[in-house]
Amino acid sequence: MMLAIGSDHGGFALKQKISEHLQQCGVEFYDFGVHSSESADYPDLAFAVAEAVARGEYERGLLFCGTGVGVAIAANKVKGIRAANCHDVFSAQMSREHNDANILTLGERVVGPGLAAMIVDVWLAAEFSAGRHERRVGKINAYAREGKA
Ligand code: RB5
Repeated sequence: MMLAIGSDHGGFALKQKISEHLQQCGVEFYDFGVHSSESADYPDLAFAVAEAVARGEYERGLLFCGTGVGVAIAANKVKGIRAANCHDVFSAQMSREHNDANILTLGERVVGPGLAAMIVDVWLAAEFSAGRHERRVGKINAYAREGKA
């Protein structure tokens, strides 16, 4: 699986830790930045990652900021993106199985790198359950495309 990843300054250190973890696990990714802890506006990075995922250039994405909230709000403005802000493994798994989330967002000021890595692993391994969830996610996608479900 090829991932797109990105963060603002508030998520930079966690992005670096998770990048090392992904490398150790042999997961391929492209890092859209930021590449230092200098101040950056989280929507810029969220849109870059979300648009690349929406275009199909990457299967899924990971976004980091202080809370994971700002990047999730921004990423969810991009058509075709279902970004989930998860700080526990149960929500991470459900966001894949029930919501077909294609971006996971994490907050550096909320979780430590150990838990974040576990959440990422669970999220990457989990698959969409489809079935009844397909109809529900279909309504979200239709609303994004046509302004109605
Ligand atoms: C930056 O200080 C902080 O606001 C940002 O990283 C993020 O938490 C926003 O949601």
